[in-house]
Amino acid sequence: MRNFNLAIVLAFASSANGQLNPLAIPPALELDTFDLVADEHVHQFYPGINTSTYGASAEYLGPTLILHRGDTARIRIHNELAEMTSMHWHGMHVPGEMDGGPQRIIDPGESWMAEFPVKNPAATYWYHPHPHELTAEQANFGIAGFIIVRDQEEEQLPLPRSYGVDDFPVVIQDRKFLANGDFAFYPFGDSVLVNGTPNPFLELPAQVVRLRLLNGSNARIYALGLDNGQHMHVIAGDAGLLPAPAATDRLWLSNGERAEVLLDLTGMEGDSLLLMSYGNELPNTVPGSGNMLWESSLLNGVAFQVLRIRVTTPTVNPITAIPSGLLTVPMPAESESIRTRTKTITGMGMVGMGMFMINGSMFDMDVVNDTMQLNTVEAWNIVNNSNMAHPMHIHGVSFTVLERNGVPPLAWEQGPKDVVLVDRFETVKLVMRFGEITDGWPFMYHCHNLLHEDNMMMLQYIVQDPTLEVPESESSGARSFPNPTIGPVMVRSLFPLISVEVLDALGRVVLKQSGNGNHQAIFDLSDASTGVYFVRLQGAMESGQLTVVKE
Ligand code: C2O
Ligand code: CU
Ligand code: CU
Repeated sequence: MRNFNLAIVLAFASSANGQLNPLAIPPALELDTFDLVADEHVHQFYPGINTSTYGASAEYLGPTLILHRGDTARIRIHNELAEMTSMHWHGMHVPGEMDGGPQRIIDPGESWMAEFPVKNPAATYWYHPHPHELTAEQANFGIAGFIIVRDQEEEQLPLPRSYGVDDFPVVIQDRKFLANGDFAFYPFGDSVLVNGTPNPFLELPAQVVRLRLLNGSNARIYALGLDNGQHMHVIAGDAGLLPAPAATDRLWLSNGERAEVLLDLTGMEGDSLLLMSYGNELPNTVPGSGNMLWESSLLNGVAFQVLRIRVTTPTVNPITAIPSGLLTVPMPAESESIRTRTKTITGMGMVGMGMFMINGSMFDMDVVNDTMQLNTVEAWNIVNNSNMAHPMHIHGVSFTVLERNGVPPLAWEQGPKDVVLVDRFETVKLVMRFGEITDGWPFMYHCHNLLHEDNMMMLQYIVQDPTLEVPESESSGARSFPNPTIGPVMVRSLFPLISVEVLDALGRVVLKQSGNGNHQAIFDLSDASTGVYFVRLQGAMESGQLTVVKE
């Protein structure tokens, strides 16, 4: 657990009297190989005030990476920080090895190249560090960026998609500044930064425009809306388009969640409107509400301005209508599910501290909490019996939210997603397909309140390929003795053995020896920790698998 810096905090220019700044738009890169350097920087959010930051090839945040479905993405991260990091492609369907979770450490001075086929449908994803217990701190300092996936289906729709012209990334973060100008490491801030810009304004043409909203905050949840009562038309959730735009005057965005919205500004040239967060509307169980028992912030429980929008001249070929239909991203149905798992959240705490558990467990990097079979569909019920709402995120998949407390979610929440806010005493039912293999690099699922995540509100799962992993009952008559064992194990098989491989629960090879063509082999687990091990028996034509328990 960390101690928050409680030194005197400067509440910088509130939006009422502060000077407005043009919204920074991170550069969009479209490259065969991206290079990102995680490094320390100094940035002036406010003129003359130096703030120590981290960035990804930038003083704060990082470039937007444009990927195309069907291409191979190559992203090289170089770690120039003084501490280890890792880089995670939030929402992307990649093999466990490329997911950039806490196991995939990049030491100071080292690089890592992620390479994966882009399988996700067109939508807005993002990248951020994911090192064990350091995610919140490194994200708070500023390492994060957008990933925009484009595909041919989306390109056929009459939607705004000129980056920085009628299509804008909008990452919302709150930050607390210390008297010396640096960031406090704290669950809430008193200042809103959008794309790293305090008090931002954005000039938008008088036509239909697209905002790609991301909640990149540590813990604050936003209840977004326009101050003039105008509707936002949600076209995409976290991980894909909706079948049709969903009009709403409020959009809740929890940590890690994205939503793409269209605003129809046609005929509004010269007008000005505000994108607001109505924190006053959040129930007491939601971080960002006015709950007096939790960490304080000037922004808690009040409505505040996120972004001022000034409507200017339309562009040459404007989109002038909200389309009536979009497209249906194929997602598994509940009827395809082969298994239902229940994940119950318990515990008590504040927004930045506390002990929160999932099914009674907290994160242990050496423990695999769930095992899934490749390409199978499962339904999960997430039950929240703790004292606050948690934004729950699952790596390696996109899911559909089927129900909240037995009722289908609002239309804008019905698309493919990878984060879902589960309020206190809510049960949220999800369905998803596990389509990516882990092979020794587990996927995480966790609370995306970054302080909860670092405080072990996270578990991990592996995905096995049932066509490669032969179940014990069909393992060519292989046997082991004794099992459980305190050390030595003898295995026998019906076929001549070429090799014997022992893997731990994470799929890591702990022992490999030659079978010398014999029908039996002996190996020793005396030095191995207690737990379940898989034994792979490899013959010339056949293979088998056993499970051995070390006591
Ligand atoms: Cu946004 Cu485990 O990640
Ligand atoms: Cu993720
Ligand atoms: Cu949480």
